[in-house]
Parts: sequence; C-alpha cells; structure tokens
Amino acid sequence: MLTKNNPIGVMDSGVGGLTTVKELQKLISTENLIYFGDNKNVPYGNKTEEEIIHLTRGAIEFLISEGAKVIAVACNTISTIIDKIAADYDVKIIKVIDPVVDYIKNSLNVDKVGLIATNFTVKSGYYDKMLGNIKVYGKGSPELAAMVDSGKIDREEAKRVIRIHMEDVLRAGGDIKHVILGCTHYPIIKDIFQECYPEINFINPAYEQAVAVINYLNEKSILKDEGTGSFNVYTTGASDPYNVIMNMLNMSMPEEIIKYEKELALL
Ligand code: DGL
Repeated sequence: MLTKNNPIGVMDSGVGGLTTVKELQKLISTENLIYFGDNKNVPYGNKTEEEIIHLTRGAIEFLISEGAKVIAVACNTISTIIDKIAADYDVKIIKVIDPVVDYIKNSLNVDKVGLIATNFTVKSGYYDKMLGNIKVYGKGSPELAAMVDSGKIDREEAKRVIRIHMEDVLRAGGDIKHVILGCTHYPIIKDIFQECYPEINFINPAYEQAVAVINYLNEKSILKDEGTGSFNVYTTGASDPYNVIMNMLNMSMPEEIIKYEKELALL
C-alpha cells in the first residue's frame, strides 16, 4: 500500500525535470523526492516515438520499484505520448503539459501563444490539441536541450539559437505576448530568454505541475506534510551537470547522485 512515506518520483530525459523538483521543494519541504534523469539518452526530442516509449517504460518501472506514490513526468516530449502506456501502470502519472494548459485557459485571456519546445513536442501537436481555440505558434529546437543538459552553457551561443527560434515564432504569430517554455530544460535558462526578449512572458510549466502533484497527494491523503524530506537523484549519465544545474537553479541539493547502471532501452 502506498503511504505518505513513499516518495514522489520525478522523471525526465535529463536534468530538465529539476525545474519541477525545485518547485516541489519550494512548495513542500517535508516530502521524499526521487529523481530519475536519462542523461545517457538525452535528447529524447530527436528520437522516434517507439524509442521514447521504450526508454520511458524503463524509467517508470524503476520509479515504481522504488515505491513512487505518484510519478511526475517532467518531460514535455514524454508527456505527449505517455497516454499510450499510462494505463499499463497502477501508479498515478502527472504530465507536465496538462496543468499549464489549464492555467493558460483559465488565467490568461489570450487567443494565441508561442511555444518553444523539442521538435517532437511541436510536431506532436499536443499543445495545439489541448489548448483548443487558443492558437499555438510553435518552433522546435533540435539543439537547445542537449546544450543545457551538458551543463556547459555558452550564453552567447544560447542567445543566438534562442533568437533564431523566437524570430520564427514572432514572424508567424505577430504580437505574441506569452511563450511557453515547452521543454523542461529551457526554464533553466529562462533568464537568457528573458534577456533577449524582455517584453515577453515566458511560461515555465514546472510550477503548475508541482501544484498538481501536491493536490493529487492531498486528495488521496498521502501527502507527507511533516518531518524532514529526502531527495535522491539517479542518472544514467554523468553527475557533473547536476551539480552545475542545481547551483544555477539555487535549489536544495540531493543527499546522493547515484549512477543508474541498468540498461533502459528494451529494444
Ligand atoms: N526535457 C525534454 C522535454 O521537456 C527535452 C529534452 C530532450 O529532448 O530530451 O521535452
């Protein structure tokens, strides 16, 4: 049986989902958090659906084996396809996209938004479908996520790439005021987006996802709201980028960064 002491599982293709962990840490310090990043296989955004599903199953099954009481899929790319396999698992899975879509529909009075995401997410049309009458002007980036995941972020190079993508969005969408950072790696460099486009409201979906996770646990009466929380990171890749990115995000550090050695790909 899942209890308050079971951990919240957060998963991503790499370091990007730390943005959700940061929001969870800010909202509640008493929860146990376990993070899984598939840094060996990042970026998922340039892979096929079949590859992403195989890797995702490996990550979900690991988090279930660790007793996760809920899994936050902090990766937009995975969130676009997770409905195809979610029913295979008993654990509740919370996507990063749906909560921010609700926020945009209910709290922003807009008829259009921009979207910068992975190629896979943009091509999937998932944001378009979910946002309904709100027109989405999306642009996929094949390179930004990997740049962030390496932990070696060249600000000038990031600015150059961001400007290319944003100009496409603005050319197509006109006077767009709100742009979704639709890849969890991008809010890590939100300040660079903002420096290039100070007048644009860049939306970080991590906050709404963290709220959705806490609401779910509250509803089920399995929110751990006392004692001290734990935080552990598992990665299929190198640990160095974690230290860099967690410092950039100014978040609480994990007790351990553990190398996950098992093969994820089931192909
Ligand atoms: N974190 C992934 C996302 O939110 C992007 C990185 C990748 O391509 O794997 O879509």
